[in-house]
Amino acid sequence: MLKGVISLSISIFFMSISSTSFAGDTGYIARSKLMQNIRLEFSVLARMSRERIEFDESLAESTRLNLLKLAASTPVIFKDDDLPINSEALPAIWENWDDFVSKSADLEFALEGVDTSTLADLRGSLGNVGATCGSCHQKYRMK
Ligand code: HEC
Repeated sequence: MLKGVISLSISIFFMSISSTSFAGDTGYIARSKLMQNIRLEFSVLARMSRERIEFDESLAESTRLNLLKLAASTPVIFKDDDLPINSEALPAIWENWDDFVSKSADLEFALEGVDTSTLADLRGSLGNVGATCGSCHQKYRMK
């Protein structure tokens, strides 16, 4: 009986691990979700810098850190070159993989340089981030 309970809880444990770490998403779906999350987090900083929402140093800093994690996962998630008809990704990504990875690193670098101490600092440093989104999209995303 006890053995049965233990093995049941072990299998539930493994089931919950696989559902969180793989989340079932691969290829285009995973890419699309990643980019939507990046947009969501970025829009918090953008709206704060335009005073559409109130400046909050701790929210700004946690958002910046979330964005850094998302940016770091970009090359991992984009490795899968699944290209369904609704994807906006260009095959050039996988033909110029090192350049794509370096554009992703540019986003991380720009995020490292974002200063969330004050509204003025945020305003002064956020522009560089937006530029890196545009630079990658221009080359690797359909318009
Ligand atoms: C290293 C390259 C790269 C960087 C940097 C990048 N993107 Fe993207 N993004 C892409 C590609 C490629 C696609 C198209 C993915 C697809 O459709 O398969 C995309 C798609 C998107 C989408 C559409 C997602 C969907 O399917 O609805 C949004 C929104 C987006 N990006 C926002 C951003 C924002 C905001 C930033 C900067 C903070 C950013 N991206 C930085 C490459 C990049």
